[in-house]
Formats: sequence, C-alpha cells, structure tokens
Amino acid sequence: MAVLDKMFAPDSLFSRRFFFLAKRFVAGETIDSAIAAVRQLNAAGMTATLDFLGEDVLERDAAIKTRDAYFKMTDAIAAAGVQCNVSVKLTAMGMLVDENFALENLTSILDYTQAKNPDPFVRIDMEGSPVTQTTLNIFERAYATHKNVGPVLQSYLRRTPRDVERAIELGARVRICKGAYNEPPEVAYKEMPQIRKQYLECAKALLTRGNYPGIATHDVEIIEALKAFAHNNEISPDKFEFQMLYGIRPSVQRQIVSEGYRLRIYVPFGTHWAGYFYRRVAERKENAFFALSGIFSK
Ligand code: FDA
Repeated sequence: MAVLDKMFAPDSLFSRRFFFLAKRFVAGETIDSAIAAVRQLNAAGMTATLDFLGEDVLERDAAIKTRDAYFKMTDAIAAAGVQCNVSVKLTAMGMLVDENFALENLTSILDYTQAKNPDPFVRIDMEGSPVTQTTLNIFERAYATHKNVGPVLQSYLRRTPRDVERAIELGARVRICKGAYNEPPEVAYKEMPQIRKQYLECAKALLTRGNYPGIATHDVEIIEALKAFAHNNEISPDKFEFQMLYGIRPSVQRQIVSEGYRLRIYVPFGTHWAGYFYRRVAERKENAFFALSGIFSK
C-alpha cells in the first residue's frame, strides 16, 4: 500500500490526472453533479447525505471556505427539493487549528441547516483515533444547544461500547460503522470477526435503546442479522435506517429498498477526493487492482 499512499496523496500528479478512477465513488467535483446524483437516488427510493470532500485543514481561511460550502450545499438542497442532509468532518472545520473555532463553524452550519433544510440533521463523520475524543467533545458541546447533530462511532475501536452507552444516555442519533482508518492494535481490533461481533453488539444496543440509528455497512451478514434482530424484537423499519456509500454494492442497495427498509446513501463530492478515494481503495484489495489497472491502461 505504500505505493498507493504516494500515488493518491492529495495534490499528487496522479490525483490530479486520475479523477476518472474516483468517479465510481465520488459524485463529481461540483454541487450540481452531487445534486444530480441525489435526485437519481431519491427517484430510486433512497435518501442521501452530502459530504463536501476535504479534511485535515490547518488554516482558518480554508475551514471558513468549507463552512461556506456547506451553506451553499444547504441552499442547493433546499432549491432542488431533494431529500438529503449533510455530513461534515471536524478536521475540515478547523479542529486541528482550534477546538472552539471548529465548534463555532459547526454550530453555524447547524443553525443554517435548521433554518433552510427540511431535513436539518448534520452528521459528524468520525476520523482517526488521535481525534476521536476531541470530535466527541465538540459533538457534545454542540448537542447541548442543537439537537440536529449526531456522531459516527466505529466498531473497530475498543472504546466504542462506552461511547455507544453515552450516546444512548444523551438520546443522540448515532451512525455505527466499522471504521476506515489504519489504527494501532492498542486502540482498535484488527481481526474482522471481532470487529463484526462488536458491530452487532453496538448496533443491537442502538436499535433497542438508541435514537434512530444509522446502520452503515455493506456487509450482508451484518445487514441480514440486524434485519432479523429488528423483526424479532418488534422494532419497526421506520425506527432506523441502513446507510451505504455511493457506488458500493448498488444491487444490495436496491434490494434493501425493495424490502421496505429505509436507506440513506453517503454522497461525497468536490475536488479534494484523494483521501476519501484512498480509503475506499485501501479497504479492498480488488479496488487496488482496479485503480492500478485503470492507471496503466490510460
Ligand atoms: P466490509 O469492508 O466487510 O465490506 C462488506 C462488503 O461490501 C465487501 O465484501 C464488498 O463486497 C463491499 N465493499 C465494502 N467496501 C467496499 C469498497 N470500498 N469497494 C467495493 N466494495 C466494497 N468510516 C469511518 O471511519 N468514519 C466515518 O464517518 C464513516 N462513515 C461512513 C458512512 C457510511 C454511510 C458508510 C457505509 C461507511 C462509512 N465509513 C466510515 C466506512 C466504514 O467504516 C467502512 O470502512 C466501510 O463501510 C467498509 O466496511 P463494511 O462494513 O461495509 O464491510
């Protein structure tokens, strides 16, 4: 993966020349292309969450620009009348510059979506473990004044059952996923059976005691187990939603909708797609071959 690390580093020559590879996972570079993708998803019975790509911002100006992009996205969602909310990364809001500054940017987005978007919910994506605690601190501070916000929790982290209990206590909406960053074994489980087991335990706690959880996975074994769990515990399909990533397993996406479950698709867009694309490539060997063969056949 070291080769891919270099190739897909943000702003590398490869990143600039090979957007055509990322198109499978990214809904274009502009808000218009993202809204067009959301319209198609809505027509297929799916809702969406829009993510303006970018992370690890180290300058205040860049964070302010990203915040303003979320205002524009919200205007575009409202103007198009699509069923869609937004997801943000706190490192893109300036969390690495200053926690209070990131909180201010986040709360101004929460105010804006509350005023303009019929679905005003804002999801805080979860990033690598060095920022887990700060992300949750900022979430809790924002949640004290704004209820239209909720965090993502990652089942590979050893700490996550405690964070799930805390979110349940707060009544906050959680998206549960496995986790996409390369974490050390001290903080994260590395074996898939353990990650799956913890995923199921956390998801069941959220389904029975939580507030409208987002079950984010393409893992059919988990999806089937949780459908059965919800059915056996009389949890109706309007009490939770499945969530999947744009471009991944579209046939499973259609199947979920045809069975009467809610499904939200995470739709990333923008020019800073390298980090996101890299994570999608890194989590599956087949994608690495797909990326490399695309590069060498160009
Ligand atoms: P798993 O990786 O086991 O995949 C199950 C099957 O799905 C695979 O066999 C394959 O068929 C298909 N699949 C999965 N990934 C694929 C890929 N990249 N390309 C092609 N096929 C693929 N992570 C995080 O750390 N912070 C976050 O905020 C989020 N947010 C988020 C939102 C949503 C809506 C989803 C669905 C996922 C995230 N993630 C995330 C990513 C998540 O942590 C995880 O890395 C991926 O979802 C892959 O894990 P799965 O549970 O899908 O299973």
